[in-house]
Parts: sequence; structure tokens; C-alpha cells
Amino acid sequence: MCGIIGYIGEREKKEFLINGLKELEYRGYDSAGIATFKNGHISSYRALGKLENLIHKTDLFSSDGFGLGIGHTRWATHGKPTEINAHPHCGEFSHIIHNGIIENHREIKKNLLSKGVKFLSQTDSEVIVHQFEKFISEGMDAKKAFKNTIEIVQGAYAILLITKDEPDTIFFAKSRVPLMLGTNRKKEKFMSSSDAPLMGHATEVVYLEDGEYGWITKDEISIFADEQLVTPKFITLKKNKIHAQKNGFRFFMEKEIYEQSNVISETFMGRVSNDSIELEELNNIDFNNIDSIKICACGTSYHAGLVATYLFERLSKIKCQVEIASEFRYKEPLLDKKTLFLSISQSGETADTLEALKIAKIAGLTSLAICNVDNSSIVRLSDVTLLTRAGIERGVASTKAFATQVATLWLLALYIGKNRKTISKEKMRTEIEALLRIPSVLVVKNSTHEKIKRLSKRYLHGHGFFFIGRDIFFPLALEGALKLKEISYLHAEGYPAGEMKHGPIALVDSELFTIALMPQTILYDKIKNNVEELSARDATILAISPKKLNLADDFIKTSNQSHPMSEFFEMMIIMQILALEIAVRLGNDIDMPRNLAKSVTVE
Ligand code: M6R
Repeated sequence: MCGIIGYIGEREKKEFLINGLKELEYRGYDSAGIATFKNGHISSYRALGKLENLIHKTDLFSSDGFGLGIGHTRWATHGKPTEINAHPHCGEFSHIIHNGIIENHREIKKNLLSKGVKFLSQTDSEVIVHQFEKFISEGMDAKKAFKNTIEIVQGAYAILLITKDEPDTIFFAKSRVPLMLGTNRKKEKFMSSSDAPLMGHATEVVYLEDGEYGWITKDEISIFADEQLVTPKFITLKKNKIHAQKNGFRFFMEKEIYEQSNVISETFMGRVSNDSIELEELNNIDFNNIDSIKICACGTSYHAGLVATYLFERLSKIKCQVEIASEFRYKEPLLDKKTLFLSISQSGETADTLEALKIAKIAGLTSLAICNVDNSSIVRLSDVTLLTRAGIERGVASTKAFATQVATLWLLALYIGKNRKTISKEKMRTEIEALLRIPSVLVVKNSTHEKIKRLSKRYLHGHGFFFIGRDIFFPLALEGALKLKEISYLHAEGYPAGEMKHGPIALVDSELFTIALMPQTILYDKIKNNVEELSARDATILAISPKKLNLADDFIKTSNQSHPMSEFFEMMIIMQILALEIAVRLGNDIDMPRNLAKSVTVE
């Protein structure tokens, strides 16, 4: 996810901005840039790749003395990671940096193009600076032009803008993406997407609310909401940087679990309208010419792929198989050119998935990647990519990467269904309604977390866990078991609930913990029967369900959802938190579990 930094004061601006961007590196980025403004002159530098490249490029540039500056790290969402797409974006006399997605950028761009405005990049962000300058050319002053621009743009944004029209000012706006302002005794002014870059510099900060915008100079900070001046609520800035990067959470994994509601909104952004799904990346694939899908992936990504097999067959009416990439590689697979090859990988660097993709390419299949990292090896090799937009994931145990993979696959299943005309308008509408509810389903309730924390103390021993589920809740059970294994080091297996009686039931006794996923929207009575069979043999049962189950030893009540995917995402979070709290009690390293690596680039 992108990072933003801004400064007004006497310091060497280049140094301050680049050091600030270093503090935001943990968010992930693929290019970076700065612009400084001094004595009526704006100097702007951008570089692809690591900050080292920007440092190298600005080697001979200095910007001391009073002035202002803005800096940005970009995580590509619209347009490839290239220097031209890096921020700041410039017009004729103004520069902007932007985090988030401008959902109506196409309409704004079309309108500006028709008026002769020239665009340089493929980003959605560039429309902001041109729209702003357009308003100025129509006679507005900078403040009015900025306010009007903010009224036009829709979507998620944290924006900083500098312009020769107001040389002492940085304009800002915030909606659904974090942005904070800070100051200190020397009256320096700071802007950032998070606390870390401001620590040791700003003493007091204000966290902007959605819909707030304004301007900031050496002497004043003016914040507006609904055209009214807002009195900023400054608070003292805390001092612990790692704590700040974790946003106050104990572990990156915990932060990433809580982030899921926001990042999934980013996954959907610009791709979902009231009655349709638009995936412009896929415009060149003719889905009527494809008769099956082959998915290859590893670990958590494999589980997302397994969920997708249900979605593709059910919604898109297309045959679909998923294979573990390390198995696929050596099985001498028979491949058909009418099969779409779909690789799923958070990192885009997993060796087994990459090799499987190479096999598919050699066989002449069209390849589509579902990936979180643009410009990764898998993305570069694939014909097309859908980015999951989860932002960087620091916890080795994948959480938000999984959630956004499943969400992207759901979008894809609906998109294919639309193209193949396998989904009625009515069905599409109900699916989209359900989809748009997911961000709220993913908000973690304090009471749920507390309950799981308390329950976790009963699950620290025993001779193993069985996570059971049916339908899409079977891959979710696999994922729940994998999360627990990875960070608690306890033995856990995911199993299709109906399959327990074909063998594993022999293991059952009171020391065998069964985590039963019991949604009300899919096969509730069937799974209830399976749970009864285990209870009759004295298994210890933790039921996760909206319906109370008397025979369960422990029970986590979920909300009354009407769509299976809502139940899916709610149960996903519960299992992630359960794994986390068990591992915390066992005293394990949550973010870097033993023997595991975030990116597995070896066979
Ligand atoms: O980067 P990828 O999605 O290709 O990684 C695949 C697996 O290595 C990964 O999902 C692994 O299982 C995680 N540690 C799961 O939490």
C-alpha cells in the first residue's frame, strides 16, 4: 500500500522526505518520488524500485532553507510499476501525491481529454492534478479549485497537492485512506499516512476523518468538513516506532487480521457496480472460448484456489480443477489449449507455482495470475494479472492475502459468469449485494475477540485438532488448520466433515479437538449429523455457527447471515484469531514462526 509524507519548514526537505519514506517501507512499494517547492520553483524526482534508486537520482539535489515538500511510495494498482506511473504526478504548475483509488477516474479523464488536457501516466491519480488545474484555468483560486476537485473525485484517497498558485501551502484531503497532520514547537508542519515517519519530529498530531480536507501553511492548519471549518483535535504523538508500524496491535498478523475489512474494499474498488463486475484487465480474454480452468498454487493460496473451484463451477458453470503446484510440476499433466491456467500466489515468487506456470505456458495455455505483488516473477510471466490489492503482508502466516485472494476469485467467477451468460440478472444482483456487505462482515468485534481469547486457554494441549466443514467451508477448514499449525506448532488437520467416518473417526476421544464450521446457509443439517457422530465418541467440540448447538463443548456464535460467503468470511476471521490467541498463550513468535519463510523461492 502506498505511503505519503509531507513537510513545511526549514529542514533539508529531500532528506526529511526520503527518511520518512523509509519509515513507510514496511507498507510495500514499487516506486517512489518527491517534489519540493522553494523560491517559486518545484523540483520533482521519481524512481522505479527501491528508495536507494531515488536517493541515487537526487544525489546532487539539495533543498535546505524554508520551503515545502511531498513524498510518496507507490504500490501499483492502476497502471504498471513504472517511473512514469510513480508519484508525484504533475500538471503545468502543480504536483500531487495520492494513496487509494479514484473510482470515477475514467469519466473525469474522458471529460478532461475532450478539453485538450494531456495525460502522461496510466494511473487513476493523475486526474486529480489536471482537474485542479482545469478549475484554475476557469478562473477559480487554488482553494476553491482544490475543494471543487475533491467534490468531484469519488473513491478512496489521501491526497497532498502543491501548486505554484499558492507557494506556501500544501493542500490535503482524506477519504477511507489514513492521513494525519502534525506540528511541533518550532511550528514545522508534517503530513503522513502513519505515525512512524513523524516520531521524533512532530510532537502533536491530528488523525483526519473521512471527508476532511483543507490546507496547511507554516502558520496555520485549516481543516474543513461539509464546508465548515473543523477545530482539529491534536493529541500527543507516541514514541515507539515498531508499535506505530503495527498501528498499536501486538503483532503484524493481528494488525493484518484487523485490516481485512479495509483491504477488501480496495480489492473491490472500481471493479464492482450495482449490477455488474468490471475487470478491465481481462478485456482481451474470450471466456466463451475457454472450456475449463486449471488452478495451481501452494499453501494458503491453494486453499483459496479450492474455494474457487466451487465458485467457478457454481456461478460461471465452467469446469475447474485445482492442483498443488509442486505435484502438478512432475505429473506430466495433459493440458488443453481451451483451458485457462490460473496461478494464485500472494508473493508472486513461489518457485513451485512459477514452474507450474512455465509448464502451462509451454503448452500454449492462456495464463492468468491472481497475485498481490505487481511486477513479481509470476505476474511478469503471466498473460494477464488480477492484483488482489492486500498491501504488503508482514506476518508469515497469511491472513489478509487469503481474504483478498478469495474475494478476487469471487469477482472473477461472477465476471466469467456474466461473460458466459450463466448468471441471471437477479442472481448477479444478489451476489453483488452480498459482496458489498463483506467489508462490514470483516470488521472484528471486540466481544468476539475477547471470547476467543478466553476460550483459547482450553485448547493448548490434546493430541490434535480436526477442523471440519463442507462445501466452501471445507477449504476454509484446511486454512484454519494451516493457520493453527503454522503459529501454534500443534498438530491440526482440515477435513471434509462427511469424510471423518471413513477413517479419522478412529482417532476420536476427549483429547481430540474438533473445530466444526457450521454455516446456516449451506448443508447445516448434514454437518450437524457429522458433528453428532463425533460427539457420540466423546470428541471435544468447538462449534462455530449462528445456530446454538447443545452438544458442543464450546460455542462461538456468528451473526445471522443470508449468504454463504458472508458466513465464510466471518468464520475465517474467527479461525485466524483462534490460531493467534492459542499461539500467544504458548509463547510463540507470531510474526515469524519457526522454520517458515514468507516467500518460498526454493523447491
Ligand atoms: O506467496 P504464495 O501465496 O505463493 O505462498 C504460498 C505459500 O507458501 C503460503 O501460502 C504459505 O502457506 C503461508 N505461510 C500460509 O500462511
